[in-house]
Amino acid sequence: MTDAEDPTGAPTGRGPEPEAPTHGVGPWPGGPDEWPDDPRYDPELLAEGDRRNVVDGYRYWSMDAIVADLDAKRHPFHVAIENWQHDLNIGTIVRSANAFLAAEVHIVGKRRWNRRGAMVTDRYQHVRHHEDVAAFAAWARGAGLPVIAVDNIEGSVPIDRAELPRDCVLLFGQEGPGLSPEALEAATGVVEITQYGSTRSINAASAAAVIMYEWCRRWA
Ligand SMILES: C[S@@+](CC[C@H](N)C(=O)[O-])C[C@H]1O[C@@H](n2cnc3c(N)ncnc32)[C@H](O)[C@@H]1O
Repeated sequence: MTDAEDPTGAPTGRGPEPEAPTHGVGPWPGGPDEWPDDPRYDPELLAEGDRRNVVDGYRYWSMDAIVADLDAKRHPFHVAIENWQHDLNIGTIVRSANAFLAAEVHIVGKRRWNRRGAMVTDRYQHVRHHEDVAAFAAWARGAGLPVIAVDNIEGSVPIDRAELPRDCVLLFGQEGPGLSPEALEAATGVVEITQYGSTRSINAASAAAVIMYEWCRRWA
């Protein structure tokens, strides 16, 4: 997108300006009197520049304004991951959930998770904790959402042939054990990603990205 194409009229940060930062944009040109009159813009970002990892359309927007805009158009699928061993995939899954605009991410098990892989995207993504599978399953039932387990186990249906409801929770397992028996029991179906090489599985974060992409391909 060029600056001229940006609907907000904000500089997009692309293009070889000698003084421009390589990531993000510098201060809005001119003084406060010349700043755009839009409550979504954050005065501090206008003054200091915006180096955050956000798409160009959100440059200079406050975090609250970005979250409100995302909330208005989130997709109706949720993502859940079991967390009994502080799985390092969770941060990456949160980042992908943000990219594919999931309604919410659910952490099932331990409350603490390693945020490093999220690259700050968790600030823009609703993340909910459930003490155990029973609490998560009760929440899904109450929300009227079928739980679709994602794992390559006996009886899994390849995702390209499986039904993928528009409103659903996609549930992923951990490195090593995969989904627990309780988690599989809470699911209405199990889907798998077809593989062709020698490894038994891909990692949970990669699997989550593939399945979220597939959901978006069908429904977004
Ligand atoms: C590394 S896998 C471990 C368990 C796996 N069942 C195995 O036999 O090795 C961790 C998680 O990643 C996801 N996953 C990895 N590869 C997958 C595949 N081919 N199809 C579906 N899910 C997969 C699942 O959610 C799984 O619980």
